[in-house]
Amino acid sequence: MPITLRKLSHALGAEVCDADVSKPMSEQRFGEIYRAFLDHNILLFRNQDITREQHIEFSRRFGELDRHDALPRDRHPDHPEILLVTNEPKPGGQPADTKYTGRQWHSDMSFTLVPSLGSLLRCVSIPDVGGDTMFTNMYLAYESLSDGMKKLIAELHGIHFSGTRKIVDLSKEREEEQKRITPPVAQPVVRVHPETGRKALYIGEKVKRFDGMTEDESRPLIAFLCRHATRPEFIYRHQWRKNDIVAWDNRCTMHMALGDFDETQRRHMERTTVLGTPSGYVVA
Ligand code: OGA
Ligand code: MN
Repeated sequence: MPITLRKLSHALGAEVCDADVSKPMSEQRFGEIYRAFLDHNILLFRNQDITREQHIEFSRRFGELDRHDALPRDRHPDHPEILLVTNEPKPGGQPADTKYTGRQWHSDMSFTLVPSLGSLLRCVSIPDVGGDTMFTNMYLAYESLSDGMKKLIAELHGIHFSGTRKIVDLSKEREEEQKRITPPVAQPVVRVHPETGRKALYIGEKVKRFDGMTEDESRPLIAFLCRHATRPEFIYRHQWRKNDIVAWDNRCTMHMALGDFDETQRRHMERTTVLGTPSGYVVA
């Protein structure tokens, strides 16, 4: 039986309705899922009450997994393939490092030389209301630009930084540590998707300037591209339920965690990150 898909929004996303990702899956069946992943850019699997090992195992079907050496503080101590995105305070009572992870529009690991192919985020615990994530389709964002704008941005590289230091008050020390691990990386603003061959916009709110240009010069165009890419018609807004897994293609989407919930309630997500193909270069 072929998989059953239900579209999640006009722009992107599909739910795979009858999947149990903890069960062994034939090559053919996974092939259908992967085809749907390329076609719809994000996939939702509901009711996946699985272990960390099963999450990792299913994620490996998409490709080799990142062990998160670029984000050593955020990974699970026993499972480096799992990144914790949680607002649960540390044992000492200090706020979690990942409390504000993803609160700006971004594509995962764009600040590294091997930006991610895709991520699989599992909802372990979600507040009563809110804690949503928004996704946007960067193929549509690119394709809907004028020819003039496409020409203007064709050769530009945006400089990507890690972290959320604008919104989290990281200590100077932590900031320096992260800069050592992941120096800024320039990425093409227009990326050709290695599997579909389609062009997608590749930008984000953590991009501060274009290579070879000043921040002042770059700011208006970055702001325009981000605003354009996140127009409501390009978006799917996911309302999480416990045991949802959302898999997204980082090469043709951006996403953002919304702070639309009661911060005293627990929001705990676990992510695996599939390695992509090399892209970009380090800037001094
Ligand atoms: C991520 C991320 C968003 C969220 O895990 O990569 O950006 O809503 N998370 O938790
Ligand atoms: Mn993210």
